[in-house]
Amino acid sequence: MQHLPEILKIIEGGVKNNATQVASYASLLADKLESEGLQRDAGSIRKKLNSVASPADLTPHAIDSTPLPVDRDSRLTLGDLTLPILENSQVQLNDQVKEKVNEFLEFIKQSHLLTSAGVGITPSMLIYGPPGCGKTQLANNIAAHLQLPLITARCDTLVSSFLGATAKNLRSLFDHAASRPCVLFLDEFDAFAKARDDHHELGELKRVVVSLLQNIDSLPEDTILLAATNHEELLDAAVWRRFAYRIKIPLPNPELRKGLIEQFLGEFQNGGLATLADVAKGMNGAVIKQACQAAIRKAIISGQDNIDNDYLTIKLAQDQYTNIIDDQKMTDEEKVVRLKNLNAKLFTISRLSAMFGMSTGKISKLTSTRGKLNEQ
Ligand SMILES: Nc1ncnc2c1ncn2[C@@H]1O[C@H](COP(=O)(O)OP(=O)(O)OP(=O)(O)O)[C@@H](O)[C@H]1O
Ligand SMILES: [Mg+2]
Repeated sequence: MQHLPEILKIIEGGVKNNATQVASYASLLADKLESEGLQRDAGSIRKKLNSVASPADLTPHAIDSTPLPVDRDSRLTLGDLTLPILENSQVQLNDQVKEKVNEFLEFIKQSHLLTSAGVGITPSMLIYGPPGCGKTQLANNIAAHLQLPLITARCDTLVSSFLGATAKNLRSLFDHAASRPCVLFLDEFDAFAKARDDHHELGELKRVVVSLLQNIDSLPEDTILLAATNHEELLDAAVWRRFAYRIKIPLPNPELRKGLIEQFLGEFQNGGLATLADVAKGMNGAVIKQACQAAIRKAIISGQDNIDNDYLTIKLAQDQYTNIIDDQKMTDEEKVVRLKNLNAKLFTISRLSAMFGMSTGKISKLTSTRGKLNEQ
């Protein structure tokens, strides 16, 4: 049966006397029917809602006004509520990851079939991989695709320094998420595992993990759960197994780096994307983004419509070779020689001159055969 999850939520809200839950799932159902071309049915639901529900319960599900729960001791909220949109949450993924994400989205769309057959499971995905590669961005992108609000848990706040409070925090955040249409996102998920090294005793950590597992297990089949971590090796095996989908986002390959540069530069791009992608070898999306934004800022300040590719190349190269460029023990002259020897194609005389503020004549002299001999 189509839309069974929403109907079940409406029934649950009714039985539990939770008018906000009834209203928010009913309006979600109306939105879904409308997007399928069933305007009349959607209209009937909205008319009914308007005639029987109080205005406070009629806040559209997208602008849920119920405040998120807070940590009792620090008074910090346990999460942030956002409404991601596709334009701001574009994510470049390799084909393998893209396929898995699409499969996950399709699984969510079809989950009512599993629910009706009594074999439904919580759609959950663990996203892991090196920093700055788009894990948080992907969570936003998934929520945007599903047109659902994203509740991002603050795992550091959830893991309270007070004994016993973590389990309570988890419970209140999961309860909050379970009673409204949303995607629950546990970002920086390793905070739970890391607690072991911090201030928690092993016994307390065990309780936290057990509580996390219980909360995951008792999530309704229509609450979408995402989690992200840079340290998958720290995760408890039982936690790891709880996720129906596990996706690794690796460092971007050449094709993706090209796509990222294109996305970050937008209308400021100036061709030569493949070469720039080559210079960005080994970098993550976050670092590439910073370099692209620096190039855009420079273009705007100098009144140009497009970026200076040479400037971006230098920015990227600087990130690539920071170990040499920031080495306090080397003189600039030594750095010039070293960089030239490492990658002569990238570190041309004019680029080295711009990077170190030396004349091209001086760079030529330094990097002549004698310079090379000096380095050996
Ligand atoms: N694959 C990608 N596609 C699009 N944008 C990306 C990608 N990788 C990184 N970025 C950009 O880089 C920045 C950092 O990305 P994001 O926060 O998603 O990384 P992360 O993997 O969650 O990093 P961390 O592990 O540090 O939390 C964002 O502004 C994002 O737009
Ligand atoms: Mg992140």
